[in-house]
Amino acid sequence: MTAKELRKKYLEFFEKKGHAIIPSASLIPEHDPTVLFTTAGMHPLVPHLLGEPHPAGRRLANVQKSMRTDDIDDVGDPWHNTFFEMLGNWSLGDYWKKEAIEWSFEFLTQELKLDPKRIYVTVFGSDPEIPGVGEDEETIQIWKDLGIAENRIFRLGKKDNWWGPVGQAGPCGPDTEMFYDTGRVEHGEKCHPGETCGKYAEIWNDVFMEFNKTADGTYVPLKQKNVDTGMGIERTTAVLQGKDNVYDTELFQEAMKRIKNKATEEFNLKDARIIADHLRAATFLIADGVEPISANDRGSVLVRLITRSITSARKIGIEGSFASWITDSYINFYKDEYPELLKKKDLINNKISQEEKKYLSRVHSPVTKKLEQEEISKAQADPRGTIESKASNVSGSPVRWEDLKQQHEITMSSPTPSAAIGTVSADLKFTRGIPQEETFGTADAILKGDFNKEEAEATFNAMTALHRQASKQKEEKRFAGGLADHTEVTIRGHTATHLLHQALRDELGNQVYQTGSNITPERIRFDFSYGEKLTKEQIKRVEEVVNQKTKEDLPVKKEIMSVEEGKKAGAIGLFEEKYGERVSVYSIDNYSKEFCGGPHVEHTAQVGKFKIIKEEALGAGQRRIRAILNN
Ligand code: SER
Repeated sequence: MTAKELRKKYLEFFEKKGHAIIPSASLIPEHDPTVLFTTAGMHPLVPHLLGEPHPAGRRLANVQKSMRTDDIDDVGDPWHNTFFEMLGNWSLGDYWKKEAIEWSFEFLTQELKLDPKRIYVTVFGSDPEIPGVGEDEETIQIWKDLGIAENRIFRLGKKDNWWGPVGQAGPCGPDTEMFYDTGRVEHGEKCHPGETCGKYAEIWNDVFMEFNKTADGTYVPLKQKNVDTGMGIERTTAVLQGKDNVYDTELFQEAMKRIKNKATEEFNLKDARIIADHLRAATFLIADGVEPISANDRGSVLVRLITRSITSARKIGIEGSFASWITDSYINFYKDEYPELLKKKDLINNKISQEEKKYLSRVHSPVTKKLEQEEISKAQADPRGTIESKASNVSGSPVRWEDLKQQHEITMSSPTPSAAIGTVSADLKFTRGIPQEETFGTADAILKGDFNKEEAEATFNAMTALHRQASKQKEEKRFAGGLADHTEVTIRGHTATHLLHQALRDELGNQVYQTGSNITPERIRFDFSYGEKLTKEQIKRVEEVVNQKTKEDLPVKKEIMSVEEGKKAGAIGLFEEKYGERVSVYSIDNYSKEFCGGPHVEHTAQVGKFKIIKEEALGAGQRRIRAILNN
């Protein structure tokens, strides 16, 4: 069975079970400042899992473009991807465990014709971190009734069988995962579902979202019991085709072939997979509007994906420009399912090629070489000082050589020049994308026989771990709130962006449209299309209009309609190509009408006083406004 057939069968199956098929949301979460990318099909549905009615009803299914960067360092192995497609079906306070599990089982065994004897499941046992929620007996019984024997049911804790929330707060619950016995044992001693020995391929996850984790860490029952299921297309396709890795499926076939053809040195599967995964992700990210800009969180992930691909390419002897040759194969492969790729083909290929050129000239530039040489000299002159200052910079607090040595199991006794060069290399890699081999090569040339690669690698790895810890902390901070944040101030922020959007169009013309928005309790960020800097007077007038409209205390009203009806009624918003779908449209009296999932305040006086604090450029043809609200 091909991935195309799998998608079709899945959607048809759930359509027959009364589900509305909804389109994939963008990889850039709308209105959600807390997460970089859409990580699962449930993510855009968070407001509806919390109780906001969904315009398409209570039973939904779709194929969602998803992106997970936590696994980026595992890419290269047989199963991990950054970008992937996820099949999902949802019950928003409608059916519950029995139907969800029975349908999953029916789909796997009847539609996909998987052997029921080779299906293993894991269920939530219990976990001290989730007090008050015991073993999921109901789920265990449902599996037994379906003929899954006791020895194929595994009871595990939170790490394996609890899903959510996305971020620190929001909907979550126990889950049950389905595995297929591939008959192969690839590695590892422990071998049961939930352990990565390679024998049991995870194919589907049914989550029973009945709790809301609140900001203070407690789990409270949700207003409604929801089901959230997710099945990765790449893995399931590989399992159905009897493949032992996702790259041997047709999804990656053409890209892998092109990489192999271009490689001139010994072909290294891991590097080829990194290139194939990362450039696929880059293709989809650019199509959804991510710009390769290092100073921006999303953009820096894109830059990293591209630079990692190039570094891997060089390891297998691919020189010069090659990336658009690979992205092109994906555009061609996915064009029917994702027409946006074909529409943005030139943009995708141009951005990729530009970034590639920029990267290559940066790595080989005299400025980089000079910087590298200077840093290496400093490291030679003062190994301890170099290591300690670099580690302290990343950690944000003083780190001594002794701490680093102990925490990262470094065996050499004192800080050597090579060890210091290891930290220099890690720094250059994270800040400028300079591959380790480049810096180590320069060091080798300078230190001649005195460069000790093992010592340099030990500190390079320690610094890499510090960099990861630091970015994880940053992510966690970012995770506070989000779509699950229905606090009063963020709701006021939502309504303020609608007023701002319309006020900008009044002032600058109807060619202005929103390209992004990001609301936290502290501030509103609003991105829009416009080619010039706004004058002081324009900013002032926009601000005045928004404040005038809040003063008038206009009513805010929600209506459900089809996209066509909405467009006819003059609604503006981010929606494109979602014809036929039923959506909600928010109107602020006769002043503004927008496609939006909400929530919003009921009347505009609740918004409070609106103030623009900054207006700036955001790449070509785009501007960004930052604003705050006062009571
Ligand atoms: N949210 C769950 C997951 O991502 C099921 O869709 O696995």
